[in-house]
Amino acid sequence: MIDPADSPASPARREVLRGSAATLAIGVANVCLGAGAAHAAATARKGFPKGFIWGAATAGHQVEGNDTNSDTWFLEQVQPTLFAEHVGDANNSLELWQVDLDLARSFNLNAFRFSLEWSRIEPEPGQFSVAMLDHYLRIIDGCRERGLQPLVTFNHFSAPRWFSARGGWTNPESPGLFERFCERAARHCARPIGRATTLNEPNLLRLLAWLDLPAAMMDRQRGMLDSAARALSVAKFTAANAANPEDLDAIQKNLLEGHRRGRQAIKAARPDLPVGVSLAVTDDQAVGERSRRDEKRAQVYGAWLEAVKGDDFVGVQNYERSRIDEHGSVPPPEGVPRDGMGREIYPPSLANAARYVHEQTGRPILITEHGLCTDDDAQRAAFIPAALGHLADAMAGGLPVLGYVHWTLLDNFEWIFGYKPHFGLCSVDRQTFKRTPKPSAAVLAAIARANAVE
Ligand code: BGC
Repeated sequence: MIDPADSPASPARREVLRGSAATLAIGVANVCLGAGAAHAAATARKGFPKGFIWGAATAGHQVEGNDTNSDTWFLEQVQPTLFAEHVGDANNSLELWQVDLDLARSFNLNAFRFSLEWSRIEPEPGQFSVAMLDHYLRIIDGCRERGLQPLVTFNHFSAPRWFSARGGWTNPESPGLFERFCERAARHCARPIGRATTLNEPNLLRLLAWLDLPAAMMDRQRGMLDSAARALSVAKFTAANAANPEDLDAIQKNLLEGHRRGRQAIKAARPDLPVGVSLAVTDDQAVGERSRRDEKRAQVYGAWLEAVKGDDFVGVQNYERSRIDEHGSVPPPEGVPRDGMGREIYPPSLANAARYVHEQTGRPILITEHGLCTDDDAQRAAFIPAALGHLADAMAGGLPVLGYVHWTLLDNFEWIFGYKPHFGLCSVDRQTFKRTPKPSAAVLAAIARANAVE
């Protein structure tokens, strides 16, 4: 168990971490044996290239707590709201980020992905907080001190409340506002960053549109956004992960332009910094001869797969496969294993999604998210090596993958679902904020240490 009360820099703390690394190693052995030693012995060892990136990801709103200037915080407060609960203190990672970095290091990872919380850095339009920029620079430097490559997401969904109260990404001025933020943040922080992404899953709303979400949910979302707009006496309140269907085209246009201008601004601060964008990509499989699979692909990824052709890499975020027939998405086959959200557990989806994006763009791939929602950590412990085995096979076949970043380091605030879904390599006590590694962390740690999967 990692107690945040310990001073992260103290020798005692380092001892705790060495101890937990040892515990992890024992955990790995147990998990391997538990999974069937005979089977493990019979399967091949699949290596990853030297310098492969092994990381875990977090995102500002989901772990920091008390980002009271953010649009998401505000949407959690209005009535009606889609959010199951308020984010509150989250994991208090605003204070405990050193504990989080120590944990990542103790899992033998060499990279850490996190996001800049725009609403802290620019709480009012054009007013930038040097203290908050310094805070994020300390995290970036803290990664470097621990041998973790900092993978920085400039914007992971949540934005300042003022930005969304101006219509968010429906506002024609939004690309310029994002560019200004990227310019200021990159000027302050870019030097020690390892890799940057502008936006997180800017194609998510279009992907969700293929899920046929219940009308009642869409109505409630509309009610939430209307209520936010009324409370602030503005015409329109729109968030990056909560918007009405009629706005999706305008949002996509501005996000594409925002990515282009954000990338330019980051490059202007540090031309040699690799910059990309993280896309949500399901492994889309055609069912039947008149499947609408390619129509889905064109709508959800088409413009983005064009836009990233000038990027240094593409971030791929995959959680599942999606089967599409002539009507649209079809439910998983009967009897397949399911995760905690009822989604099919399908390990080959990661490699398939990455292969598709590379084939379409010619760009190297960085897996910036992949994980499993489950309360049964044994499922996660089996899922990670299974998915990585398929990824290693695809790489052996020529797919250029720079690294694998697991979602997520800690159980966290899963947006509208609140704290109930668990994707973390560590559980977090909601009162003390104590982080406790799960056995799956030991599995990933062993893979990262060996730079290979059995
Ligand atoms: C997002 C994360 C989210 C995760 C699991 C991704 O869509 O980038 O913020 O928590 O999926 O649902």
